[in-house]
Amino acid sequence: MSKSLHRGPYPHTRMRRMRSDDFSRRLMRENILTVNDLIYPMFVLEGQGEKETVASMPGVERLSIDLLVQEAKELVQLGIPAIALFPVTPQSAKSEFAEEAYNPNGLAQRAVKAIKDACPELGVITDVALDPFTVHGQDGILDANGYVLNDRTIETLVKQAASHADAGVDIVAPSDMMDGRIGAVRQALEENGHVNTKIMAYSAKYASAYYGPFRDAVGSAGNIKGGDKFSYQMDPANSDEALHECALDLAEGADMIMVKPGMPYLDVVRRVKDELLAPTYAYQVSGEYAMHVAAFENGWLNREQVILESLISFKRAGADGILSYFAKEAAQLLQKK
Ligand code: PBG
Repeated sequence: MSKSLHRGPYPHTRMRRMRSDDFSRRLMRENILTVNDLIYPMFVLEGQGEKETVASMPGVERLSIDLLVQEAKELVQLGIPAIALFPVTPQSAKSEFAEEAYNPNGLAQRAVKAIKDACPELGVITDVALDPFTVHGQDGILDANGYVLNDRTIETLVKQAASHADAGVDIVAPSDMMDGRIGAVRQALEENGHVNTKIMAYSAKYASAYYGPFRDAVGSAGNIKGGDKFSYQMDPANSDEALHECALDLAEGADMIMVKPGMPYLDVVRRVKDELLAPTYAYQVSGEYAMHVAAFENGWLNREQVILESLISFKRAGADGILSYFAKEAAQLLQKK
């Protein structure tokens, strides 16, 4: 502060005074991370008793529905409010037009039913996008030049979202970044009587290289046709555009908005929360998980401390909740404390 406040040899204000005791540190703590902030993303696999590791995400497993249900029960015990499901689609079920996305007996739809039957109190979120179901790995349907067709893709996304709602999902989460898809999905949900099915919009979703390990986990990796998703996901250089996207999605009926990735985009989380005042979420994505775990496994960072520090950063930025592959472990750590 200014020099005029400084009389004599001693500082008038000692910031360290409040930091000197545990009680005063607790009294002035501005943010708190609780289990209620955590959403756990999970990968679901065909089969029975099947469990696979993900090379680029040590500690994360793809689980068949029966094992997923067991895991879901543990998450309920821990108090985790919701999970986000991602199906690993067998190559044979992928196609040019992603018909498997709205198969009422598809993997995602069956997983939703099984989890809601076993754990009705656990919130279930499904991804609405076509990348797990297209042969080329893009999130939508392509024209002859490999360009993702907006309105044609929305027709399929709407069917996909409706099939998830029919299966009993609580929240659909369009992650495709087509224009107008939130309004179209909202309308379809209303028409089918799913008035309380919520929409979490991946509104400010950047064309990020931090998604690499996820594409490995769901098996949409390899060579995405066209090489990247820059024609629909956002440019990492922008943040006004993120506000524009979020405002549109809210106007179209989104209940919750999301910024993704997380830690490299905390400035965007703060702006979105401050300016739009809506329920705001952030996704600590696969690449963020992978780089943390790499450092833990090398003994370069303290695992427990850094997990909790990374998650409180989202709260400080204004997020109401965090999707994180550390959600289960963080819930255990919070319980221990
Ligand atoms: C699919 C989708 C992606 C992620 C969530 N939904 C990948 C992508 O857009 O390429 C990434 C999640 C993560 O990296 O953890 N549309």
